[in-house]
Amino acid sequence: MGVLEKVFYSRPGQAVATRAGLPEPPVLRRGTTWPQHQVVLAAHGGSRLAADTLALLGVATGEPVVDDAGGDHAPGYGGRIGALVVDATGIREIAELEWLRAVLRPAVRSLEPSGRVVLIARGPADVAGLEARAVAQALDGIDRTVGKELRKGATANLVQVGQDVTPAALASTLGFLLQGRSAFVDGQTWQVAAADAPATSEPPLAGRVVAVTGAARGIGAAIATVLGRDGATVVAVDVPAAGEGLTATANRVGGSALQLDITAPDAGERIAAHVASRYGGDARLYGIVHNAGITRDKLLANTDAGRWQAVLSVNLAAQLRINDVLLDPAVAGGLAEGGRIVGVSSTSGLAGNRGQTNYAASKAGVAGLVRALAPVVAGRGITVNAVAPGFIETDMTARIPFVQREVFRRTNSLGQGGQPIDVAEAIGYFLDPASAGVTGQVLRVCGQNLVGA
Ligand SMILES: NC(=O)c1ccc[n+]([C@@H]2O[C@H](COP(=O)([O-])OP(=O)(O)OC[C@H]3O[C@@H](n4cnc5c(N)ncnc54)[C@H](O)[C@@H]3O)[C@@H](O)[C@H]2O)c1
Repeated sequence: MGVLEKVFYSRPGQAVATRAGLPEPPVLRRGTTWPQHQVVLAAHGGSRLAADTLALLGVATGEPVVDDAGGDHAPGYGGRIGALVVDATGIREIAELEWLRAVLRPAVRSLEPSGRVVLIARGPADVAGLEARAVAQALDGIDRTVGKELRKGATANLVQVGQDVTPAALASTLGFLLQGRSAFVDGQTWQVAAADAPATSEPPLAGRVVAVTGAARGIGAAIATVLGRDGATVVAVDVPAAGEGLTATANRVGGSALQLDITAPDAGERIAAHVASRYGGDARLYGIVHNAGITRDKLLANTDAGRWQAVLSVNLAAQLRINDVLLDPAVAGGLAEGGRIVGVSSTSGLAGNRGQTNYAASKAGVAGLVRALAPVVAGRGITVNAVAPGFIETDMTARIPFVQREVFRRTNSLGQGGQPIDVAEAIGYFLDPASAGVTGQVLRVCGQNLVGA
């Protein structure tokens, strides 16, 4: 910690910070916790999708208060509510958006700290007609704005459900959103498609082998921890130089360690061989989490071929090559049918970031890879998704100069940096067998960072 930081984080320093307009950020509800107060369900036009999904999750629901007056004071809830789930799957017309305003208005002020607004609607591609498609997009604008207006760690997100999505296919997403696992996911929109999803079970990854690259420290170590909690057998992968941290991770989660530079030409073969030799000739990998990544930041004017190549080969090319090998059904220890591939992108890749052309190229490339690969392997029941973290408190972000770091850390709707576990939880959600309908998605875990939001 530098001198400036010591001052900033000291008690007098924080008092100054608060007076200077930097409020203490709220402590977010995390982990597999549910909202403390009642979950309120508002369903438009008699849709049963959200109601039946909440019933599957064992969540009891209360009735919404609806604002009918439109005056200065909305009717409120008597006390706090834990979450508002809005089933807007039937909404097609601009006039019907008034219903959404009327159910949202009384709820937003009544939400408990780390409360939730969850909007469930059809996406533009799943409705017909100009007005319906415009209205589907309007919901995205409502979601992003509500996310920015909510306070005390409460979040808003929009799930666009395809036609024929069943409660079983939606359950893992709604459960993730209501639980503290989604603490740092805010103002996002993503899609859930129809799929044969097994019932959500506890622990969801029991008996499944998942490899995590870059698992020696930071986000990768947190991913291993969360997957271990969820029952997975973790193969922790990292470079030999990180051997100590790697062993510590593997031991902590009862998994195995594989010392490997993922840029090695035979990296995919070595991961598969490790799975087959360690867990039996018939064992297959259920999931691969491509978390290992590096930065070599410089303005483009100062970026030489070495910095360019190093970042692209670790962050992107290695994933492509490893996937190729693991997706070959003939490779012992390769990816199982119905398996999971998860990439780690970055908001820098989605929005661009000064001084990170190489990194942004690689991370946007990860998003492109996910979207391109998902339909190719869908027939095998394999899903492919990515998380795009914003500012997460790790060794990587500790290297950013203090002032720049403090700005980046706070310029999001939750007013703080995320924790490695926040990224890990989103990855756990993708890996859940019940998330079979979630594929081709790039989910920002960024607290609704203003960068490119
Ligand atoms: N920290 C953030 O705010 C943030 C934001 C967006 C995206 N990300 C991404 O999240 C991932 C993890 O980031 P982190 O902050 O934990 O980084 P970190 O530097 O703390 O950890 C990265 C790990 O990857 C390993 N690694 C690097 N090159 C490797 C190689 N060739 N083979 C095997 N392992 C290798 C490192 O040894 C290290 O253990 C990265 O892909 C990063 O780009 C991080």
